[in-house]
Amino acid sequence: MKRLSLLLVLMAVGLSNGFAQNKESLTLREDNIEAIIAAMTNEEKVTLLVGGPGDLVPGAAGYTRAIPRLGIPMTVLADGPAGLRIQPKREGTDQTFYCTGFPTSTLLASSWDPELVETVTTAMGNEVLEYGVDVLLAPGMNLHRNPLCGRNFEYYSEDPLLSGKMAAAYIRGVQKNGVGTSAKHFAANNQETNRLENDARVSNRALRELYLKNFEIAVKEGKPWTVMSSYNKLNGEYTQQKHGLLTTVLRDEWGFDGIVMTDWGVKDNTVKATKAGNDLMEWGNQVEIDRILAAVNSGEISQEELDRNVRNMLNYIVKTPHFRGYKFSNKPDLKAHAEVARKAADESIILLRNENNTLPLKGNEKVALYGLTSVDFVGIGTGSGEVNTEHIANMQEAMKMAGFTLDQNLAEYYQHFYAQQETVQKMERNNRWGYRNIREEAELSARAIYLQAQENDVAVYVLGRNAGEGADRVLKDDFELNTTERELLQNLSSAYHALGKKLIVVLNVGGVIETASWKHLVDAIVLPWSPGQEGAHAVVDVLTGKVNPSGKLPMTFAMRYMDIPSSKNFPYGQSASGRRGERKDVDFTNYEEDIWVGYRFFQTNNVEVSYPFGYGLSYTTFAYSKPKVKADKDGFTATITVTNQGKVAGREIVELYVAAPSGGLEKPARELKAFGKTKLLAPGESETLTMKVSAYELASFSEERSAWETAAGTYQVLFGASIDDIRGTATCKMKAQSWEVHDVLGNPKE
Ligand code: GLC
Repeated sequence: MKRLSLLLVLMAVGLSNGFAQNKESLTLREDNIEAIIAAMTNEEKVTLLVGGPGDLVPGAAGYTRAIPRLGIPMTVLADGPAGLRIQPKREGTDQTFYCTGFPTSTLLASSWDPELVETVTTAMGNEVLEYGVDVLLAPGMNLHRNPLCGRNFEYYSEDPLLSGKMAAAYIRGVQKNGVGTSAKHFAANNQETNRLENDARVSNRALRELYLKNFEIAVKEGKPWTVMSSYNKLNGEYTQQKHGLLTTVLRDEWGFDGIVMTDWGVKDNTVKATKAGNDLMEWGNQVEIDRILAAVNSGEISQEELDRNVRNMLNYIVKTPHFRGYKFSNKPDLKAHAEVARKAADESIILLRNENNTLPLKGNEKVALYGLTSVDFVGIGTGSGEVNTEHIANMQEAMKMAGFTLDQNLAEYYQHFYAQQETVQKMERNNRWGYRNIREEAELSARAIYLQAQENDVAVYVLGRNAGEGADRVLKDDFELNTTERELLQNLSSAYHALGKKLIVVLNVGGVIETASWKHLVDAIVLPWSPGQEGAHAVVDVLTGKVNPSGKLPMTFAMRYMDIPSSKNFPYGQSASGRRGERKDVDFTNYEEDIWVGYRFFQTNNVEVSYPFGYGLSYTTFAYSKPKVKADKDGFTATITVTNQGKVAGREIVELYVAAPSGGLEKPARELKAFGKTKLLAPGESETLTMKVSAYELASFSEERSAWETAAGTYQVLFGASIDDIRGTATCKMKAQSWEVHDVLGNPKE
């Protein structure tokens, strides 16, 4: 008997050792995730759900935690939408780690060219890979609900289709490098004021048709490795804790199979976030580990829920360069990427005004270059969306490099003014996050301007606005011009026009500003937004005609701020007065305008705008012909022929709008349902563009039935050069179809 029990004991010890041995030797592979989960302790599992410290890539935003026992590496997460954001210099080495400052998202969207965007982010993703980062925390893609949102430069458009297609292309380009992206901030993070607590109160229709629609397109067509839940609440519940949003809609309805990470702050309720489907808490700290572990031990978080999130994390980790042991070089080809950045800006800059063919310039003019921003050029913006570039080109150097002769006295005047301003700005910038750079402008007497007009051939005024994370813009001296800017414009216009000379304005801005009150004073307006480190060169490429501008507006320029429907429910940077929790537009924001955002409101209601959605000029003109629409099994296929009627080569963006049959749900008069961009057409050359639209893409959202519905009837198909400039029409009959979805997003409080 003794021998038997001894044998049994030896066997048990052997087994457990073997098992332990097996546990010890178990190393994560793509094909043994379940075994790894089985081998992990709950303590180990929980650490995988909470970000941790790291120093492998100085300046990276965050890390996931390693479990060396099981061959699970840490991974590296870094910002941002306009390029990788890491520290450019490190202790102990002379090597630098600069990154390329590509055009910001609003400028990329102005190209209306998903292929271009994919080219840009293929280069961007290479820098992510070669600097040892696993996930780029981008694209930023919240809708431009209101022009005063401080982070609009990081986002694309007022329209969810354009925004979603741009984001999907962005994701594909980055991920071609075998690194990940993070579609952010999911969802309804459309203001910076009190962003950590603000409750966005949005109808289900506005959510489905606008604020979630771009994410739906990006997830389905881009397949991002990760999604970042936003700081804010949505209909009374933090998005990071909203099971209906993060699991039911994102995963069950849209098929998302990656990980959801939080935005960078301590959670209001880590346990609820874990249960909701938020797999990773960033930046992550011990209190979150403790909370999750306690909830697992108490059963508040079930073993299935814990293992589900761990499984998502392991499926993410095995895709990463760190897991694959990629030997990153720290030497991406920044020179080549600078060229990519310049070409992308070339293809995206918008020409808003060009009276009497003021542009292009001949190139030999003596130029009086005005504006602080002609020296302090706004390449990107502030906050986590900024990029540490080696250089941001400015307009003085770009104009000189292109061969222009600048008025040297004036150039030096602005250099001195900038030097003095820079000191002021540095002081401001260092003392608080959410730095709002309200630009001073140097004053110039009418007398001085009159003399300069005598000595120069043309005036170029670079008008700048910076913006960034942590603060929304304001009306005064930001959306609207400040007094000095207005006087300068007036005096430039009078002096140069008195001599039959031209005045050109360059809007180097992070977001929409007021233009209606002053655009008649100037002969041409070029809009590069914040075009990246090479953007000033791209502006000059357009001014000289080296590039024929082909960008078009991804949002509306209203006549005045108060015309914008959301202006009644948006913070003006007001101080957070009143009792916490009850401050309109600060503690909560009622999206009262519902779906009536941008052109959906202005065009439907025939409200005059300064520049309409989809508007942009060229140095040539295009004719549209042979508009055709053919029903196919899943919707319709539309074709239109575009011919270059002018004397210079150019590209044309065609916007396909659809006017649904009347009756049933109240709908915008027309909505963007597809778009295309021709190749560079030589004078006289034509191209036929083909655009497909599915029945589902035609659907509107019925809250009553919690379903997408495509009504039966005849649909008007409108081929536009802009929302207001329809160049061809056709019709298509559709039968009724509907797609039910879960009613899990809550409702705005009354
Ligand atoms: C910030 C931003 C987010 C960024 C993250 C990491 O708070 O909201 O866009 O990716 O933190 O820096």
